[in-house]
Amino acid sequence: MLIEVRGLHKVYVLGKVKVHALRGVDLSIDRGEYVSIMGPSGSGKSTLMHIIGCLDRPTEGQYLLDGIPVHTLTEPELADIRKKKIGFVFQSFNLLPRITALENVELPMVYAGVKYKERQKRAMELLEQVGLGDRALHRPTELSGGEAQRVAIARALANDPEVILADEPTGNLDSATGEEILDLFDRLHDGGKTVVLVTHDRHVAGRTERIIYLKDGKIVSREEFEE
Ligand SMILES: Nc1ncnc2c1ncn2[C@@H]1O[C@H](COP(=O)(O)OP(=O)(O)OP(=O)(O)O)[C@@H](O)[C@H]1O
Ligand SMILES: [Mg+2]
Repeated sequence: MLIEVRGLHKVYVLGKVKVHALRGVDLSIDRGEYVSIMGPSGSGKSTLMHIIGCLDRPTEGQYLLDGIPVHTLTEPELADIRKKKIGFVFQSFNLLPRITALENVELPMVYAGVKYKERQKRAMELLEQVGLGDRALHRPTELSGGEAQRVAIARALANDPEVILADEPTGNLDSATGEEILDLFDRLHDGGKTVVLVTHDRHVAGRTERIIYLKDGKIVSREEFEE
């Protein structure tokens, strides 16, 4: 099992206010699976993705990623695992505005210590793979939303991660552009990558192999979800 989550809780504490965002989540995802997570706003989807993506740690519970007990790791160890195993795609693209598309894709490789020539070559190949070979020198403001999201996907692939996690990757795109982005995720899945995407959209979720329903910080059945 690539992702194994047991009894996961997340409590956010802000002064006197506590938000119990996850309330005992159990979840297993196999290598190569194509999974979506659906749930209403505030149900804990992003919180769960952040923990799976090693951006945050649970308050309670276990998380094994590729057999590694992530819940026991220190912050630097967590960052190290994240760099090697996770590619993140966000709703708002999160590209650095002042550098080119090519440099954005190179960035994770800079942090991973890949040499200049090699990372330039790979970044260019990745941009070509997402159909943007001719936009390499554009800055994010000089790209359309769909193009920016393609750059973000190329960046997520830079270090050849085990898992691609995407939080509402089509949320800021019109439906035709969103379809093109989903086609790219389909291709990544066909190529053997594990892909997990969060969405509000039934149609988007319907393209994946399995839908996980989240409600009030818990995983529920489809029937419970719809009642
Ligand atoms: N950093 C934080 N600090 C405090 N509370 C937070 C934090 N992040 C999320 N929350 C709270 O945790 C709950 C779950 O939030 P989360 O962002 O996981 O929901 P979501 O399912 O992704 O919602 P949406 O569909 O609107 O993106 C919410 O009540 C939210 O207010
Ligand atoms: Mg969210």
